[in-house]
Amino acid sequence: MEFNIIDEGFLENEKNFKNGLERIFIFGVFEGEEKTFLKNKSLKKFDFINKIIKEKDFVPKNGKTILLQHPVLSLVFGLGEKEKFFQELRWMPGIILHDSLRVFISASLRVAKENNIKEATFIIPGFKEKFHSEKGLFYMGAGIVEGAQLGLYEFKKYFSKKNEKNKKDIENINVFFEGAVNTNKTAKNIEKGFEFGKLTSRATNFARDLANEPGNVITPSSLANVAKGIADKNKNIKCEIFGEKQIINKGMNAFYGVARGSKNPPRFIHLTYKPALKGKNKTLKKIALVGKGITFDSGGLSLKPADYMTNMKSDKSGACAVLGIMKYISELSPRLEVHGIIAACENMPDGGAQRPDDIVKALNGKTIEIENTDAEGRLTLADALSFAVNLRVDEIIDMATLTGACVVALGEYTSGVMGNNNDLIEKIIKASGISGERMWELPFDDNMKEKLSSPVADLKNVGNRYGGAITAGMFLQEFVQGNVKWCHIDIAGPAFTKTGFLYNPKGATGAGVRTMLYYLEQH
Ligand code: BES
Ligand code: MN
Ligand code: ZN
Repeated sequence: MEFNIIDEGFLENEKNFKNGLERIFIFGVFEGEEKTFLKNKSLKKFDFINKIIKEKDFVPKNGKTILLQHPVLSLVFGLGEKEKFFQELRWMPGIILHDSLRVFISASLRVAKENNIKEATFIIPGFKEKFHSEKGLFYMGAGIVEGAQLGLYEFKKYFSKKNEKNKKDIENINVFFEGAVNTNKTAKNIEKGFEFGKLTSRATNFARDLANEPGNVITPSSLANVAKGIADKNKNIKCEIFGEKQIINKGMNAFYGVARGSKNPPRFIHLTYKPALKGKNKTLKKIALVGKGITFDSGGLSLKPADYMTNMKSDKSGACAVLGIMKYISELSPRLEVHGIIAACENMPDGGAQRPDDIVKALNGKTIEIENTDAEGRLTLADALSFAVNLRVDEIIDMATLTGACVVALGEYTSGVMGNNNDLIEKIIKASGISGERMWELPFDDNMKEKLSSPVADLKNVGNRYGGAITAGMFLQEFVQGNVKWCHIDIAGPAFTKTGFLYNPKGATGAGVRTMLYYLEQH
């Protein structure tokens, strides 16, 4: 799919209106501007739209549309209130980018695809007054590509009959920014954003593909093979895999305890990205990205009820996010050393499985009483986090489908953010504001530590009914020794969607990928 910025010349050229069946023109319209939005003289030929708007008394509330077939296929798309659309980001003064832009692009291109369109031309209004900063233009460009590439994503490799009505991919996306983009510099910034958006979209869709694979296809060892493949194709990335014996020998018993109940043996995955730097090799900041990699979560002996077990193939979403980021990181080439760390295993209940009441000793020496084998993610992450700490990195960010409690607290679309460093937490939440992913901080409270105290070991692996996302995060904190900055993102809500939301179709969403790439891009 190609993205181009077009000017008045394109709209005035008759040749761009031929083959009406293969083209669509998409008009974003703000509430209150439905009678004036076609005032630009190069849009004269769309006068027929005015008539329909009057006849239908159309009010362009957010998401409301009119589709017209003649003389050219045209979609009028309501953008709601202008002030809201061009709202400044709460944590990023000066950056104007509302996620509605992605939703607009995504929803209207879905209509285009239904109509087998080859070329879609967007007319985006209002940019004269709301001229963006350089960075704002860049993010806007990225958001446009993301809306398209993420919104049109499909996972259909397992259908045996290739659907004859299968819609073709849209080839060209043209964007006309009303009144604003007539300088080269403006266009350059948007185009740079297009490139970044292609990268974030590929990474996200790669993570989605992987997380959508079922547990009989993606096992810990096949996940490790994916990691190896990423390193093989990338001279800046190394991959190290530990098998069962090494996991035991290194003392990753918290991780190994979870793995014991499955026929599919665990793998510990460690990817390292080091940029190729010209000249002197300065000491680089080191970041570790840790992903929860449970290839299927049955709950173990504390077995989940059937209803709660479906879609638990998505319990590897954090790991898939890490792999998506690592696969594309050399294209971003941040001046950072980045480690991707995944303790991959399957949580199953066979005769070798870990029991409730078992006591295990984690990599950092702390002992854990297992109260519930379904609280397995924090056990695997405990050892993965200690491993990251031992690498002497400056920052650790983990992504995990950790708790149902987080979904109860924040809803299905918002991730919970916790950690030991306010500055890092703030940076991640800011990055999420630009990426459009919803993230919100949950408060740690030392007064809650006693919920994790055990009569027989240093800790137990579950708290009580209340604040489960927080106690899970506080459990993780026990394995982040020293003064490394650490941030935990509980993606249990948005990682997988049964219904689809915004520009996320049904299934895995690739949650976390974009926010991390936007964060890394700032380095
Ligand atoms: N993988 C689940 C959490 C989860 C739930 C992710 C729903 C996505 C959607 C995790 O391993 C789990 O089972 N957590 C338990 C913890 C409890 C036993 C303390 C939970 O949330 O119920
Ligand atoms: Mn579980
Ligand atoms: Zn789990």
